[in-house]
Amino acid sequence: MSNGSSYDAMFSGIIGRDYDMLQRMSPLSAEMSKIVGRAVKHYADKAGRPLNVVELGGGTGITTLAILSSNDDMIVTSIDSEPTMQNQAKENLKQWVDNGRLFFKLDDAYSALTKMADNSADVLATAYTVHNFEHSYRERVIEQIFRVLKPGGQFINGDRYALDDIFENTRTVQEEISGFFEVLIGENKPDLLEQWIIHLFNDESENHVMREGISLKQLEEAGFVDIALNQRMKVNALVTAVKPI
Ligand SMILES: C[S@@+](CC[C@H](N)C(=O)[O-])C[C@H]1O[C@@H](n2cnc3c(N)ncnc32)[C@H](O)[C@@H]1O
Repeated sequence: MSNGSSYDAMFSGIIGRDYDMLQRMSPLSAEMSKIVGRAVKHYADKAGRPLNVVELGGGTGITTLAILSSNDDMIVTSIDSEPTMQNQAKENLKQWVDNGRLFFKLDDAYSALTKMADNSADVLATAYTVHNFEHSYRERVIEQIFRVLKPGGQFINGDRYALDDIFENTRTVQEEISGFFEVLIGENKPDLLEQWIIHLFNDESENHVMREGISLKQLEEAGFVDIALNQRMKVNALVTAVKPI
């Protein structure tokens, strides 16, 4: 998978306006899908066999495209609970659906996972979805991810992981908000600005915030090993964890 502008052009061409807007609003979020794709590629290169990858919260397909582009053999099942989002992904990624490499499930993450067999997925990859979950729901989803992964399988999540230093976290989120104002006032999009700010309150609320230390501990308690948080960029980070063999 290449980097840089040709890669951006591919995303822009396939995902269209959504990707262009995400790049302007939150370039680190756009970058994170590529980081997830690279992590999946790393796992696939080491495994050296076709993989069964499950994605949670595929949205319009930005992360799905990064995963699909990481390897030519893997099969991806992309789960999302929102039909409007998933229908856009279906349209954007039609060529992979037609090739039999991409399947969609319209379902909520927990419900979809409970319908999957034990030890059936090589990788569970996701971006910017798990932080939206309320704590108890997130815990139940993580237990299901552990059950569904094969021994040696990997959980790969590029997401908002709030800093354990609460003062630093607040300062970072304040900077993020300033960036939203700069871009969206500049583009005369007050409605979108309102949506992003409202959503941010949800992300940072006591019953949702996905704080680094607690999250890594939660993975350990679920049974995962080799738990790592890498590539932190402000409130964004990549977390990987392995189901022991
Ligand atoms: C912010 S988008 C992320 C899209 C893409 N992965 C990215 O990084 O750009 C989050 C997606 O998760 C989906 N989602 C949120 N809660 C969910 C749940 N409980 N089950 C399944 N999908 C969910 C939303 O519908 C949305 O499409």
